[in-house]
Amino acid sequence: MLRRLHKEQPASFAFTPANEAWAAGQISKYPEGRQASAIIPLLWRAQEQEGWLTRPAIEHIADKLGMAYIRALEVATFYFMFQLQPVGSIAHVQICGTTSCMICGAEELIAVCKELIANAPHQLSADGKFSWEEVECMGACANAPMAQIGKDYYEDLTADKLRVLISRFSNGEVPVAGPQNGRYAAEPLSGLTSLHEYEKGRKPYNASVQNAVDIGDTVKRIDGTEVPLTTPWLATAAVAKPAAAKAAAQKPAAAAPKAEVAPTEAAGTKPQGLSAARGGQADDLKRIEGIGPALEKLCNEMGVFHFDQIAAWGEAEIDWMDSNLKGFRGRVTRDKWVAQAKLIGEIGMEAFLIRAKTNDY
Ligand code: FES
Repeated sequence: MLRRLHKEQPASFAFTPANEAWAAGQISKYPEGRQASAIIPLLWRAQEQEGWLTRPAIEHIADKLGMAYIRALEVATFYFMFQLQPVGSIAHVQICGTTSCMICGAEELIAVCKELIANAPHQLSADGKFSWEEVECMGACANAPMAQIGKDYYEDLTADKLRVLISRFSNGEVPVAGPQNGRYAAEPLSGLTSLHEYEKGRKPYNASVQNAVDIGDTVKRIDGTEVPLTTPWLATAAVAKPAAAKAAAQKPAAAAPKAEVAPTEAAGTKPQGLSAARGGQADDLKRIEGIGPALEKLCNEMGVFHFDQIAAWGEAEIDWMDSNLKGFRGRVTRDKWVAQAKLIGEIGMEAFLIRAKTNDY
């Protein structure tokens, strides 16, 4: 299938403030110079926010990651999970058309989509609420035929059941995901033949469905307030409990908990810096794993030019640096700068570089 950008594009794209913080957290997972590795999560988050992936979004993310537009476009057009055209305002319905589902009635489901949504895939319904497409096996073959609606799987479908689902979504409901024929999970249709002991006291839904119910974002656009930012190396992220995350999902973006707390100048103690490199010759701080040109520049601006300066930092100085390396918070701890700098002083650069290959410091 030819995958091209849609002919009509919005003028611009911006992440919501919470998604912006989330994106910064994702980028911070990768070492200096490797920010492009965050391309897929960022494109995905843009799609979760907007429903589809627009050209301004792709270019915005490419700029953010220092990538040529063509590189980001290569990723966006390669993976079918990225929707390159507008999708229904309520949901995009993906019908599995692979062997098990096809044998069990996928064609009837597709006929329902053609009748209720649009005659062709990737077209919006007349009311703009839905779009659909046929996709390859989604790994729920034991519950064929099935469809992914929004983020969740609706399994053991019939044409009539899909009609009801679409109608309920259209009315603003979010039907419980999972098997639609009374099955708990993927057990035989006639019921369990073994492992009966696990039936007692089990939860009302299987784990996947329970998760879908708990998170409650089946057809919700993601503005960044739903999922906690788990970037402990930044030492600033609040990890919300599932219930709290769900509650946050109900709130408008303005009321969202902050995903990342602003750094505080007061955290720790600022290391004593130099006004210039000793003898006018700075050490090549980039020899420390995790320090790239941008971080080296930042360190120099803070008066840090030499390995022995870093090696002398105690906990207070590390705290301060971790909190104040704008755009790279938490890197001193995460990449063990002090241990590396001490090792350079102890065994010399040549031996250090051999040890560094195996992160042995
Ligand atoms: S064939 Fe449809 S989920 Fe595998």
